[in-house]
Amino acid sequence: MRTPLIAGNWKMNGSHALVDAFGRAFADAALPESLDVAVLPPFPYLDAARRALADVSVQLGAQTLNPSHAGAHTGEVSGRMLKEFGVGYVLVGHSERRALYRETDDEVYDRLLAALDVGIQPILCVGETLEERDAGHTFDVVLRQVGHALAPLEPEQRARVTIAYEPVWAIGTGRTATPEQAQDVMAAIREYQSGFDPDLAQAMRLLYGGSMSAANAAELLAQPDIDGGLVGGASLKVDDFLAICHSAR
Ligand code: 13P
Repeated sequence: MRTPLIAGNWKMNGSHALVDAFGRAFADAALPESLDVAVLPPFPYLDAARRALADVSVQLGAQTLNPSHAGAHTGEVSGRMLKEFGVGYVLVGHSERRALYRETDDEVYDRLLAALDVGIQPILCVGETLEERDAGHTFDVVLRQVGHALAPLEPEQRARVTIAYEPVWAIGTGRTATPEQAQDVMAAIREYQSGFDPDLAQAMRLLYGGSMSAANAAELLAQPDIDGGLVGGASLKVDDFLAICHSAR
């Protein structure tokens, strides 16, 4: 059985007030028992979030990391530093970083390795643009992104990777993939992983991301290959995020 994971990616949003609101809301929330929840605030709020969430079962995540552990990389943050702040998950290859900061598949792989190296669970984000979907290239694009990151890994490393399928056209647009569209791609990711190791493929956690909301989470999370959600906009509203957590039973 795979334990569902609901992760809130705040992107470049949030405030001390939001961190406090999460701390208060989760202190009172009776979450489903077999559920992992993570909050991924921007770097400056990590320590405050760690303190606010210390007594509740919410883990901490980060949105990126530098491939190096230390050195002359002005403005960057390393996995080793994130580890010191109690970070358990880190995103790599988010489509916004691929598009806005031109991160290539090679760089995504280097960041993935850096996370594995320091013992932080990477969440590898993959997904096609609308043009790629319309041209019938969805599976090629997604499996290329997955393969580039996973193929060179040792089996032990592969087992520690979570994959988030986030169709780019569904991110921040209010246009969600249908449960069937998401399921088809995510089944293909699991199938691809089976080529390395069928047991590992069954154990691997796959998240859906892209306009997930309190209204549509339950039907997405009911799909056999969807083990959780990577939530953007709706993770900034405590009540909506809690409602999504409750959908993951
Ligand atoms: P939205 O939920 O705002 O569409 O964002 C999804 C996402 O990019 C999460 O990483």
